[in-house]
Amino acid sequence: MENTLKFINEKTEGFRPEIGIILGSGLGEFADEYCDYAISYNDIPNFLKSTVQGHKGRLVFADIDGKKTVMMQGRNHFYEGHTMAEITYPVKVMKKLGVKTLILTNAAGGVNKNFKPSDLMIITDHINFMGTNPLIGPNNPDLGERFPDMSEIYKKDLIEIADKCGEKLGINLQHGVYFASSGPSYETPAEIRMAGILGADAVGMSTVPEAIVANYCGMKVLGISCISNLASGVEGAQKLSHSEVIETTNSAKSGFKALLKEIIKVV
Ligand code: HPA
Repeated sequence: MENTLKFINEKTEGFRPEIGIILGSGLGEFADEYCDYAISYNDIPNFLKSTVQGHKGRLVFADIDGKKTVMMQGRNHFYEGHTMAEITYPVKVMKKLGVKTLILTNAAGGVNKNFKPSDLMIITDHINFMGTNPLIGPNNPDLGERFPDMSEIYKKDLIEIADKCGEKLGINLQHGVYFASSGPSYETPAEIRMAGILGADAVGMSTVPEAIVANYCGMKVLGISCISNLASGVEGAQKLSHSEVIETTNSAKSGFKALLKEIIKVV
């Protein structure tokens, strides 16, 4: 950790972000608009090397309307074969850099029948169905306690702020429970029916490990899902493909970017 922080602090001249944002599939473009310092994950000691093509895989630091922000442009996933500790390491780094509020974003399949592709959903809670937990292993009391409370990971005051921002921009925001499976295969229709019965509104393969670690470290979390498709077997759903997920998030990204910008101003 020490060498990671030293490296970042040198590159950013001691920039102290208060807000952290993890930008999900198809949503990374937001960070292109505001960039004071950008560091490739490949260069940061102890960070996973970026496996994604293009401009993704960077830690971007920017002052956005007076708010000091650090953004992850692209994330690593559990399904790539990394450990939970590896994929959540950047959250601990953000905490040490001074981040108090973490905004997690992702593309997700809509389980709730009232959702349609391109909707934005504010995450109110989650179900961890990944089969493991990022806090398994020796505890570091310097970061958090052994048995952290999880009764309000996604803070109500942040949800209210997001709702007000949505209203101001005329964006109708959905609310719901995010269900995380490990992937990389999409779910079967039976699994989606199960997720719905268990209380899920949307399903995806990320976010939950980061939310658990952020909550453990005492950060406030806001989660935003871009509904990129109807989940497997939901009435009207088509065969799933990653390109469809990216296409839909691309079409939703102007609303997403406007919402994020508005939220940053207020949090
Ligand atoms: N399932 C899981 N992950 C996803 C989906 C989905 O339908 N869409 C985008 N990420």
